[in-house]
Amino acid sequence: MTDAHNYAKDNREQFKADYLELLRIPSVSTDPAFAEDVRRAADWIADKMRSFGMDAELVEMPEGRHPTVLGTWNGAGDDAKTVLVYCHYDVQPALKSDGWETEPFEPTEINGQIFARGATDSKVHVIAQMKAVESLIKTDSCPVNIKLAFEGEEESGGETLHAAAKAYPEKFKADIAVISDGVIRSPQQPAIVYGLRGICTMELWLQGPIRDLHSGHFGGTVHNPAQAIAEIIAKLHNDDGSVAVTGFYDDVAPVETAEREVLMASEPSLNEEWQQVAGAPQQWGEPDFILHERIGARPTLEINGISGGYTGDGFKTVLPQQAFAKISCRLVPNQDPVKIAKVVQDYIHSIAPPTVTVEFRHTDAQAPAVLLDRHSPALQSTYTAYTKGWGVEPVFERAGGSVPITYAMMDVADDVTIMGFSYKGGRAHGQNENIYLDMFYKGIDTAIYFLQEIGSA
Ligand code: BES
Ligand code: ZN
Repeated sequence: MTDAHNYAKDNREQFKADYLELLRIPSVSTDPAFAEDVRRAADWIADKMRSFGMDAELVEMPEGRHPTVLGTWNGAGDDAKTVLVYCHYDVQPALKSDGWETEPFEPTEINGQIFARGATDSKVHVIAQMKAVESLIKTDSCPVNIKLAFEGEEESGGETLHAAAKAYPEKFKADIAVISDGVIRSPQQPAIVYGLRGICTMELWLQGPIRDLHSGHFGGTVHNPAQAIAEIIAKLHNDDGSVAVTGFYDDVAPVETAEREVLMASEPSLNEEWQQVAGAPQQWGEPDFILHERIGARPTLEINGISGGYTGDGFKTVLPQQAFAKISCRLVPNQDPVKIAKVVQDYIHSIAPPTVTVEFRHTDAQAPAVLLDRHSPALQSTYTAYTKGWGVEPVFERAGGSVPITYAMMDVADDVTIMGFSYKGGRAHGQNENIYLDMFYKGIDTAIYFLQEIGSA
């Protein structure tokens, strides 16, 4: 019988066809209009799992909206280790009119690249991990028991899996959990992501007059909420780019010298990635920290959106009654998301002028940062797997993004690792999201090598 790597190689066309089929399902979790599509994606994944011998169920919870697909396979026997692989199959919204060159839910191949919403974030992981397991099971060579936990609402809350992992820890219990999400450094350069930032989000609402007013009748006598919110936002950062909120940095764990050196080693390629992907006129941020620290080891406060008054065509001389901003903070180890949300709100209350009223809404999305031990057995196996799968030794990276479920997975598994196959050039959450097919195939190989490593340890 052929081995798993050859099986994967021989079945590339079929694997790609399955990947494209899943990309055609618009599993947008945030918009209720797509709820049926999310479920269709879940059913499709569960059927695929069954097709190569796994058991599969849809896990639902009263707190959640979209099912987690849980596939299990215990064919390696009672003495073998159990590996849980986490991915998410939901995606961010996308419309061609947002500025896409192709239909976001009609995957298009151009010169070895697949363009589609979810191609990079995160269906490449769903299919690559599932195909790695299929390749091992179908060649009778899977050395570990498997749990595949594929979440359907990572991009919009994650209540289902959080609640399920709490309510039924035994369902998710494993020796090792793999969080398969996120990016490597470039299509050619793999990376071990051993840190993820945490997050807390909120909406800031300012109310001025009780209704929109004629700006001629009242301008100069009423503090315009759109102006007031700009004044408040302008006070949230210092001139050097640091966050001005009192207490914001109190608990931040500094990066030790030895780790800084590890990060420094790949600072040039991170800088190159920034130049290629960010497209801003120049870099910005805290001058005392290297780019890598500013992305992965320093907390930030971002204005994700700001709105108020008339923004339609033409002109309306209005003094708007309201303005609001969506704010999120990326957090680093040792920071408590609840505490940070509170210090930000307290600070805004303290600087807000008495001419407007301040209200915070939607303050519930919170997750702490994660920092894994670079030397743990699971990370060392990940290192070996990337080295074999990509043919290049990975760099070490603290990523700036968040995968809120990671913390919960640390409760159900003895050891946790992160394994991403996408890249920042893949434009996650943006227009023309994409990935190279070569990365998809290398990802499958890497995932197989990882399970083989764990099985032989
Ligand atoms: N795939 C990302 C997370 C990610 C990005 C991990 C880069 C590692 C490196 C994930 O789908 C995502 O976008 N997460 C959200 C979470 C938020 C909505 C709570 C994020 O980071 O903004
Ligand atoms: Zn995402």
